[in-house]
Amino acid sequence: MAVSQSSQDYLQGLFGQSGRTAVVTGASSGLGAEMARALVSAGAHVIAVARREHRLDALRDGAGGLAGTVTTCVADLGTDAGIDAVAGAVRDRSGCDVLVANAGTAEVGNVESMDDESFSRVMALNLNAQWRLAKALFPALVESDAGRVINIASIHGILAPVRPGLAAYAASKHALVGLTRTQAVEWAKHGITVNAIAPGYFPTEMTAELLASRAAKRLQQFVPMDRFGAPQELVSALLFLASPASGYVTGTVVPVDGGWSAW
Ligand SMILES: NC(=O)c1ccc[n+]([C@@H]2O[C@H](COP(=O)([O-])OP(=O)(O)OC[C@H]3O[C@@H](n4cnc5c(N)ncnc54)[C@H](OP(=O)(O)O)[C@@H]3O)[C@@H](O)[C@H]2O)c1
Repeated sequence: MAVSQSSQDYLQGLFGQSGRTAVVTGASSGLGAEMARALVSAGAHVIAVARREHRLDALRDGAGGLAGTVTTCVADLGTDAGIDAVAGAVRDRSGCDVLVANAGTAEVGNVESMDDESFSRVMALNLNAQWRLAKALFPALVESDAGRVINIASIHGILAPVRPGLAAYAASKHALVGLTRTQAVEWAKHGITVNAIAPGYFPTEMTAELLASRAAKRLQQFVPMDRFGAPQELVSALLFLASPASGYVTGTVVPVDGGWSAW
């Protein structure tokens, strides 16, 4: 079915990203790469952030021909230099309208036996880095007509994991949800909305081993739709929350989980 020009203009006005700059962390793989491509397809300039330069280069080169563009920013978000590098890339671009705080990690260990260093590494990236990066980009987001922060949490940011070993991960994601709600309240007066997406299970580098194991069958039983998600299924929620259309939506957590959190 052909889409009329006026219909395209209407959709572009609601959900388009033309003329906007988005920072996407963890853009070198998995959900981050998919979300970065979606924002570029909607017309954004994306600053793609991660440590693996060759993966970011591939994302940039693969985006040729899409509506928007990509620049890369190699940064370890666990370091001061990494946060400064992203802030510098935003300054070079003269602004930032959207921050997708997606970079994350998981380490497995039971509550009684996980060592403190492992717990701290998970918190450092999944919580502290999001806290520090949002602060560093706040001056640019304030200047935007429609500043948007989207924190990528997890269903384990709203529900306890059904299998043992994810206490640090779940604690970090619950804390990220708390940070999301607090940022939303504090930054509302600045015209910045802050929301979280809580994905269920999606096949990526992070979950490859788990989803190939026998445990996957049991996990799938918790999904009313009886399947794991495809990374492309996350992007519609992202595009809504990143767009002018979501201007009166803030402090929410949007599950994209095939119904897991509805049990
Ligand atoms: N996949 C799922 O089922 C699922 C479900 C719920 C939530 N999530 C969340 O979604 C987000 C993306 O996960 P994913 O599944 O796409 O995993 P992934 O493929 O392993 O991606 C993780 C990303 O984070 C980046 N990263 C890791 N450490 C970093 C650091 N110190 N500095 C900068 N970047 C760093 C990685 O890039 P480099 O290694 O190149 O630095 C990579 O791009 C995470 O926050 C995760 O918790 C995933």
